[in-house]
Amino acid sequence: MILDFMNFLTYLMYLASSGAVAYYSASQIRDSKTRLNMVRGLYLSESSSVKFLSTLSERANKEGDLWLAEKLKNHAKDENKHSKILAHALKQIDESIELDNIEQYKSNSKENEISLFSAYFDGYSREQLAPNCIDWNVFFASTYIMEFDASKDFVRMAKALPDNDPSIGNLKLGLLSIAEDEKSHAAYLYDAMMRKMTFPQVETFVEKWRVRKVKAIFKVIESVI
Ligand SMILES: [Fe+2]
Ligand SMILES: [Fe+2]
Repeated sequence: MILDFMNFLTYLMYLASSGAVAYYSASQIRDSKTRLNMVRGLYLSESSSVKFLSTLSERANKEGDLWLAEKLKNHAKDENKHSKILAHALKQIDESIELDNIEQYKSNSKENEISLFSAYFDGYSREQLAPNCIDWNVFFASTYIMEFDASKDFVRMAKALPDNDPSIGNLKLGLLSIAEDEKSHAAYLYDAMMRKMTFPQVETFVEKWRVRKVKAIFKVIESVI
């Protein structure tokens, strides 16, 4: 049970933060004025993970863990597929968008705004997070939390989209299929931890990253406000 691992205050913060993220992402994708920006953000985060996961797969291969190498290779393939689904949606929403040049459209966030990524990995250096050095268990647990939450967020966003709106084409179905893949990514990452640690160790590790994510979301909200 989640409460065995988290103290009550963190649990309340967890509910508040996941509710805030759910509300924010659903309202941003529902509104045709903010939809493009939201889908662009999703596209950037999906496409940026492909190279990272492929390098990790090569590393697992070199280390002789063929099971993990195969899982990571498929994971990279899935994220590549997700970025294609989102790229297609972006083109449908705005024909003139240049995907090769998409970084330039990044929302101009204010100077004091911190990214969820930097808050989540607070205390880790770039070097420690590089695919050739990252501690396997840190990668498994931190990514498990992100994938697990993403699977739920994608379903919520799909449900928030209007039915029968030709301007979004198959985006609803696309988001639902992405959600299914994210669920399977969370599942193999959990299995990967179980291959290296005992069950109580895995739960403690997962809880540590859950708490990190909750705190990171609050930091981001704080910096935006
Ligand atoms: Fe994905
Ligand atoms: Fe994923």
